[in-house]
Amino acid sequence: MSLPSSTMQLLLALLALAYAASSTADEHWCYEIQAKEPNSNCKGPSLWTGDCQKNHQSPINIVTKEAKVNPNLKPFAFFGYDQKNKWEVKNDGHSVKMMLGNGSFITGGDLPAKYQAVQLHLHWSQDLNKGSEHSIDGKHFAMEMHIVHEKGTSSNTVEDSKDKNAVLAFMIEVGDEENKAFQPLVEALSRISKPSTNTTMNEISLEDMLPKKEKLVHYFRYLGSLTTPTCDETVVWTVFEEPIKLHKDQFLEFSKRLFYDEEQKFVMKDNVRPLQQLGDRQVFRSHAPGQLLALPLPTLVVPTLTCLLAGFLQ
Ligand SMILES: *[C@@H]1O[C@H](CO)[C@@H](O)[C@H](O)[C@H]1NC(C)=O
Ligand SMILES: *[C@@H]1O[C@H](CO)[C@@H](O)[C@H](O)[C@H]1NC(C)=O
Ligand SMILES: [Zn+2]
Repeated sequence: MSLPSSTMQLLLALLALAYAASSTADEHWCYEIQAKEPNSNCKGPSLWTGDCQKNHQSPINIVTKEAKVNPNLKPFAFFGYDQKNKWEVKNDGHSVKMMLGNGSFITGGDLPAKYQAVQLHLHWSQDLNKGSEHSIDGKHFAMEMHIVHEKGTSSNTVEDSKDKNAVLAFMIEVGDEENKAFQPLVEALSRISKPSTNTTMNEISLEDMLPKKEKLVHYFRYLGSLTTPTCDETVVWTVFEEPIKLHKDQFLEFSKRLFYDEEQKFVMKDNVRPLQQLGDRQVFRSHAPGQLLALPLPTLVVPTLTCLLAGFLQ
């Protein structure tokens, strides 16, 4: 018995479709270090699709002396960052990601609206000088932490725009002191070695993980993209000058405990997108280099002059 040719065609079409679906899954995006593996069939950064080949991409090298001081880049206000929480954390096959729910948000920092914190994740290497995505005057750090925010609240979704996301980026340096605030995350890593696994961290607040608040007034600002496919050019980037410090052993746990693959053959490290061209963009900074006070000059000069004048007139 032979099948009617229309049924045959339908079967062939279905087979082709199934094959196409499985082969796109095999050609999933990955980092350079994974693409370089023999027999890897994932797409490294030069083959990423979506907006990834456009020209307002991230990360970039920040040249500090080219960054223009912008007096509108005032301090941020952080809400809910002080809430202690048992965050859910997962290995998503590309990074380790803390899910932040909808209880934390930021305003200020010349952002046009309130931005909700969605997730926190990191980028790292096993070496101390190539794990950050951004570099500052050519210098890469051991790790970089990103807190991804979305404009508005969960109840009103915002259309794609150049400022749909605000990402706060923190450089991480390695030293010889334990960072207690990072211990809950570090301890959770061994429970999420495999991709697509999750766990709950011991209680911690976001604020505890950040540098001291008074240091957060110094930062760089530019418009760019997500650093993973589809690289949407929707990000207001804030790169803080003050690094976070971890103990070397805490830092090494990331490349020791986490794996890219189910079989745990490839440790997760160098999950870092290569630098992108700045192109026609301007990088801004919140303060002139070496400027200690956040106050504008007239607020200091006027009272001083008034005092002097008052003394003179007596
Ligand atoms: C998230 O928002 C919903 C309603 O919008 C609220 O009921 C819930 O408590 C919020 N969750 C957190 C973690 O704040
Ligand atoms: C892991 O994720 C699943 C699905 O999102 C969720 O139901 C579960 O509560 C999570 N487990 C932990 C320990 O957070
Ligand atoms: Zn990131």
